[in-house]
Amino acid sequence: MTSLLIDGIGSLVTNDPALGSGPLGVVPDAALVVEDGRVTWAGPRSRVPQGAARERFDAAGRAVLPGFVDSHAHLVFAGDRAAEFAARMAGRPYSAGGIRTTVEATRAASDDTLRAGVRRLVAEALCSGTTTVECKSGYGLTVPDEARCLRVAGEHTEEVTFLGAHVVPPEYAGRPDDYVDLVCGPMLDACAPHARWIDVFCDRGAFDGDQTRAILAAGRERGLVPRVHAGQLQAGPGVAVAVELGAASADHLTHLTAADVDALASGGTVATLLPGAEFSTRSPYPDARRLLDAGATVALAADCNPGSSYTTSMPFCIALAVREMRMTPDEAVWAATMGGARALRRTDVGRLSPGARADVVLLDAPSHVHLAYRPGVPLVAAVWRAGVPAA
Ligand code: NIG
Ligand code: FE
Repeated sequence: MTSLLIDGIGSLVTNDPALGSGPLGVVPDAALVVEDGRVTWAGPRSRVPQGAARERFDAAGRAVLPGFVDSHAHLVFAGDRAAEFAARMAGRPYSAGGIRTTVEATRAASDDTLRAGVRRLVAEALCSGTTTVECKSGYGLTVPDEARCLRVAGEHTEEVTFLGAHVVPPEYAGRPDDYVDLVCGPMLDACAPHARWIDVFCDRGAFDGDQTRAILAAGRERGLVPRVHAGQLQAGPGVAVAVELGAASADHLTHLTAADVDALASGGTVATLLPGAEFSTRSPYPDARRLLDAGATVALAADCNPGSSYTTSMPFCIALAVREMRMTPDEAVWAATMGGARALRRTDVGRLSPGARADVVLLDAPSHVHLAYRPGVPLVAAVWRAGVPAA
């Protein structure tokens, strides 16, 4: 049995209120015991249980927190859209139409090119502390291209999402319902075995409420659990459909109605906020305070994709959430760890209490508050995934 003691932790975020103070369950002057990839003990270092011979790592007074759980990412694609970004920063608005540029590049790319791209982004995310990442398809939009994108995603994560309904591809221009039929039939037949989740971009320029409902219902019949891109470009039916179908999360929420807030606060659907997208599309940030104050469960995710948010950095998203969305540093760190775990319906990640997978982030800072307090600074000093040094 491999056994690791992380000792000398200045401040440990467990996300278990029974172990420490506040919702983050913060333990000062702490230690963490890991056995065979799982946390077996967390608490004050003065009370570390005696155990088998352990490898000892001295955190030297620095902060430790759970690895980030990034519950929304589009990592399987080819090319980039730097020119589109530059044009946007010069005043051009963001639209769903840019997705088709990446679809063209992705269709033309080999499996190995796509694979190398995902590997690079997953490694980049790991270096900034992300130990669980969801990954969507959505830049293939043919039956074989969606299936291969999901297969490539599945080589890197168990959280694979079928997003065949990202936009209507050019060859279906003017006949969106024929494309919806393709997604609901042959595309799902080929793709469902490779995915855990189904997502739809329900917004202006993409899919409407009825199309979204039909696609998610077809996915559910094949055992996939819904999640929805909702309210990114305008308020619409996305949140209502998500809650109605028991979606695990509704994501973006840049534009929200009072009814949307109520639905998210009273239902089991997590409100996932993606401030990298507002940053990179120069849009107003979602009203996180309204959602939190209403009692909704809020997650933060990076939404890494080449169009609207080309970042894998959860610390960057935390800093944005605190500065621009008036979340407290504690709320933002919770949303980026436990919130993401809730959005992915995972109980084994997002926390550092007994039984959890030992996904551990060491910061070169005395507390988790520094993630927002020191924006843009690479504070992640070490990462363990399932107890194994990973970055
Ligand atoms: O989550 N909104 C839809 N999908 C992505 C953007 C995709 C793109 O622009 O390539 C998002 O922001
Ligand atoms: Fe997205």
